[in-house]
Amino acid sequence: MLVAQISDTHIATADPGAGSRLSDLRRTVDAINRLSPAPDVVLHTGDVVHDATAEDYAAARLALSRLAAPLLATVGNRDRRPAFRRAFDFSACGANGGDGEFVQYAADVAGVRLVAADTFDGGSKLGGYCAGRAERLTQLVGAAAGRPILLFLHHPPVPLPEIYGPSLQFRDASEADLLAGVIARAPGVVGVIAGHVHRSRSSSVGGVPLSTMGSIAADLNFDELPDSRRGRPVFHLHRIESGMISTASVGV
Ligand SMILES: [Fe+2]
Repeated sequence: MLVAQISDTHIATADPGAGSRLSDLRRTVDAINRLSPAPDVVLHTGDVVHDATAEDYAAARLALSRLAAPLLATVGNRDRRPAFRRAFDFSACGANGGDGEFVQYAADVAGVRLVAADTFDGGSKLGGYCAGRAERLTQLVGAAAGRPILLFLHHPPVPLPEIYGPSLQFRDASEADLLAGVIARAPGVVGVIAGHVHRSRSSSVGGVPLSTMGSIAADLNFDELPDSRRGRPVFHLHRIESGMISTASVGV
């Protein structure tokens, strides 16, 4: 099972200074489409757009529609759930984008249960979580029927070293703990992948490996890259095999 991860595309159609972000996304889509073997799915871990306008989502959707592999996505702090839902249709993977208020859902692809968690917090750019989301997430991971589970979300619910701002990017540490507790109790979670910090970091949550990635928007990517890669998008490729996850950074 191969998963291509993209994140933090921050499409901003009204900002003339952000025009490179659409071309960054298009180049990334082209590079993912050229992969051999092809990924089974592409996961976007949020901040699809920057200002959440209909125009931003339309531009992002058009660029992402050229992906040969099916796409699943979840919301970042820059997204807005109603516009996000109008923009994306995950039915090709048998997913509905989440019941009720939150963008939490599962899709079973190539023998792996992919579970989106929604860490959007209406009051800040940091992450948030709540009892309702934890209950629904528990149901989604509990219905894996023995499949390995890959959880994808925007805000990593654990402290990370050497990032911009607080090491824990949740407004309330108890809400991060609530999410981490669901992960710790769920059998079969092989990995948690996140965005938000615009940097590649690795850690663990509830005994499960966790990784973050830089932003596909190269102007917002804070990873320290070699000269040959600077100013170009870098995406992640995850292989899930024998109940383990391994990850590579792929330059575009
Ligand atoms: Fe972001």
